[in-house]
Amino acid sequence: MGENGLGKNQGGFTSSFGAIAAAAGSAIGLGNIWRFPYTVGQNGGGAFLLLYIAFVFLLGVPIMMSELALGRRSRQDAVGAFHVLAPRHRSWMFVGFWGVLTTFLIYSFYSVVTGWTLDYVVLSCQGGLADKSPAEVSQAFTDFSTGTFWPILYQVIFLVLTALVVMLGVQKGIEKTSKILMPVLFVLMLLLCVRSVTLPGAGEGLDFLFRPDFSKLTGTAVLSALGQAMFSLSIGLGVLITYGAYVRKEDNLFKTSVIIASADTLIAILSGIAIFPAVFAFGMSPASGPSLVYEVLPNVFNSMAGGQIFAIIFFVLLSIAALTSTISMLEAVVAYVMKRFHMRRVPAVICITGLLLVTGIVCTLSFGPLSNVKILGQSIFGFLDMLTATYMLPLGAIGIVAFMGWYYAKSEARDELTNGGLLKARYFSVYYFIMKYLAPVALLAVLIAGIFGFGG
Ligand code: PFF
Repeated sequence: MGENGLGKNQGGFTSSFGAIAAAAGSAIGLGNIWRFPYTVGQNGGGAFLLLYIAFVFLLGVPIMMSELALGRRSRQDAVGAFHVLAPRHRSWMFVGFWGVLTTFLIYSFYSVVTGWTLDYVVLSCQGGLADKSPAEVSQAFTDFSTGTFWPILYQVIFLVLTALVVMLGVQKGIEKTSKILMPVLFVLMLLLCVRSVTLPGAGEGLDFLFRPDFSKLTGTAVLSALGQAMFSLSIGLGVLITYGAYVRKEDNLFKTSVIIASADTLIAILSGIAIFPAVFAFGMSPASGPSLVYEVLPNVFNSMAGGQIFAIIFFVLLSIAALTSTISMLEAVVAYVMKRFHMRRVPAVICITGLLLVTGIVCTLSFGPLSNVKILGQSIFGFLDMLTATYMLPLGAIGIVAFMGWYYAKSEARDELTNGGLLKARYFSVYYFIMKYLAPVALLAVLIAGIFGFGG
């Protein structure tokens, strides 16, 4: 099986560390530093954080292991994997297709935020945010994001950059850059945390983040925590099925998944610690939504000695973190399109990027000229963000869990996760119990609670 598959044709990852770096590169991105804090902010803080962590380790890790296993077993893209592993039941391919569609939609709004990030690189190089009051910083963000020319220009640059890397093939450039730059990002986050928690009035922010108040947990908040966990780990979409196709046979998928989930969670919590104390210290609202990080962090930099240098390094690294994530999204869609339409890599990348230019620019314009267009009371950007992360991701995860827990042979799953019996893998029975019973029940319960609004 899989001799004509992805890993073989394109050259897979060259080491376990390379695989971890690439998958962690996909997981760690704007989801941790931009989306996590504002989602925590909108959902009441500490209780949300606890739930989030529970979802990451109880459901996220087993689902990540499953995706990597399905990819490595089949050596196929997200759709092809189901085709190969369930040859007599074609309808399973729908799960893969759902994932590809969700990935495309996520990339459409994500690319808007990559554009903002790039703009902040330029702004901090010019010192454009230095010496501004918190109100002026917020105003500068609004002026920029509601415009047309600049946000679109930076967005297009980012889309093209991603396309170029994916055209070249992922492994060389990205494996290497992620390995070096992710640790630097981590150190910088630590530094920001130290500055933020020593701001006057910071305690309130730490309270908000770490003191759970379960009365604030509504059904929607629980569903948002689940969606955020999946968004942040890049699971439920088949992106990691695609990456799994590049993973070496001898790698330990359990270890790989635990390392990625831990690193991802650590970065998310660090960005919470960097942001919430500052939110309260500067008298802002934690529930202000997608603009939160871009309005808060410049103030933290402004209050540091040498803040401008740190700001530049930070936004450069954030752009790189975002790039390793957008690469994985584009790669997953491109791998599918290449297979499905018998296209070569470069034309496939050009076609998908062309489509993304349209959907992505519409999302950018939804902050400015299209801000009057509302879907279910939200802007196009807000609607897509909610639709994909909160609803489509958990639904996609249900498909993957159903496949692994109820359709796919247990012996095959065990074989793949224990590397043909070479690994001891005592955790397998726990893993399998989660996939068969706990995950389907939990996912369904959370979806129903979220959709019908239990508890609020
Ligand atoms: N996990 C990425 C982040 O946290 O920024 C976002 C992401 C990447 C979502 C890849 C989906 C995906 F397929």
